Amino acid sequence: MNLIEVRDYEEMSQIAADYLVKQVRKNPASVLGLATGGTPQKMYELLIADHKKNKTNYNTITTFNLDEYMGLKPTDPTSYRYYMDQNLFNHINVQEKNINLPSGLAANVEEECKKYEVRIQEKGGIDLQILGIGSNGHIGFNEPRTAFSSRTHVVNLTASTREANARFFDSIKEVPTQAITMGIATIMESKEILLLVSGEEKADAMKRLFSQEEPNEQFPASILKNHPHVTIVADKKALKGVV
Ligand code: F6R
Repeated sequence: MNLIEVRDYEEMSQIAADYLVKQVRKNPASVLGLATGGTPQKMYELLIADHKKNKTNYNTITTFNLDEYMGLKPTDPTSYRYYMDQNLFNHINVQEKNINLPSGLAANVEEECKKYEVRIQEKGGIDLQILGIGSNGHIGFNEPRTAFSSRTHVVNLTASTREANARFFDSIKEVPTQAITMGIATIMESKEILLLVSGEEKADAMKRLFSQEEPNEQFPASILKNHPHVTIVADKKALKGVV
């Protein structure tokens, strides 16, 4: 794991945006794995600014998001599809047909999970996967004790994850109890991973990630130690106690 230590959220976001732009310019047919949540928001803002200024072209890229809540329509302001539209897709020239998120409304969820895996394979796999991390070490919505061999699947969200995400809803009662997420094996097949980490609420997770602890399913992010191309961009607050 290659660590880039940065001052703050702004610097993390700038480095992440530069990284992504470089990837898209190097390979205009890039398959990007994208995340939602608070962490990548500023990175998306910077990508939009860059697109306006430098005309970075997203016409031939494909995107796969990590996850989506169960039961929310894409037009629901708390769905991840809506988040992506607002924070990125509506402002760059990515083609609708190249945008992929699991559907939380699929009648046959098992089928939907399988189809998501097939779509990723058909595109040749993910070139660059952007990740955030939960304070309990989750990646995507793979909570502690998820099998490292897992593929796209339905998860029951833990109380701590629902609490952490309640800030995006009117009340915690409205946070869905289930989501569809790429599995850990799916994430690990990405050719390259960029993990973004900011803020002191992530400091314990970072301490654990950089400890001697061997990869284990109690702490999902620990699997990243087995990936050959992981870059972690983390700010000082997140790295308190690590460096
Ligand atoms: C989001 C995702 C999650 C978040 C994680 C951190 O698509 O899969 O794993 O990356 O929960 O969330 P924030 O960035 O809100 O702290």
